[in-house]
Amino acid sequence: MIDIISSKTFHFNGLVIDLHPEVYEPAEDSFLLIEALKINYGDKILEIGTGCGLIALECARCEAQTICTDVNPFAIQLARHNSERNRQMLKGTIEVRDGDLFSAIKEREIFDIVIFNPPYLPTSNEKKVGGWLDVATDGGKDGLQVIKRFIEGIKKYLSQNGRAYFVFSSLSDRTKLEEYLDKERLTYEIVLSQQFDFEVIDIYCVTPKY
Ligand SMILES: C[S@@+](CC[C@H](N)C(=O)[O-])C[C@H]1O[C@@H](n2cnc3c(N)ncnc32)[C@H](O)[C@@H]1O
Repeated sequence: MIDIISSKTFHFNGLVIDLHPEVYEPAEDSFLLIEALKINYGDKILEIGTGCGLIALECARCEAQTICTDVNPFAIQLARHNSERNRQMLKGTIEVRDGDLFSAIKEREIFDIVIFNPPYLPTSNEKKVGGWLDVATDGGKDGLQVIKRFIEGIKKYLSQNGRAYFVFSSLSDRTKLEEYLDKERLTYEIVLSQQFDFEVIDIYCVTPKY
């Protein structure tokens, strides 16, 4: 079990979220993503890469039926701990599953909304420090290594009118990103954008073309 008692805690919309040094601490990108979401009562939501669980918990607080995943075992334990801790605040449901991208999702499970704040920073081999915080931020040479695999998998898990939201940084390769989206026949739109010190963060919303 991870030691949660020694970690930091923060508050968000009535949720109390414990943190852990091996798990990404929600930042501007996480909060921008939450701001962009349009959640309806009973929506089935999948959050990939949940970290401490904040986004998935916010969805469950807003009456959604939420499943979230992560590859980091510390994140899985922390998200489960935070789900338990906030049980009274949740009007919907939350289930935390361990796995790479969609690997923990069963054959016929589909979602109204899929969400991902991926590792998106372009990172050379020299810049890698190793460990789980690298896994949270390292998007490979062009920043798109994990996002590309996510884009290739989305369609199978979206309902007829489903949509997916993900974070993109201006430090990554936008031309390549939009080529990947076109190749998968996904319509895309930037629904929210904010300038930070060194980058612009965009929230993309994508839907399948039928
Ligand atoms: C930038 S952090 C976002 C954490 C949290 N969702 C937030 O917005 O604060 C990225 C998260 O994705 C997870 N992750 C990275 N690659 C993944 C993969 N292939 N499948 C599932 N989760 C992944 C990391 O472990 C990390 O928790």
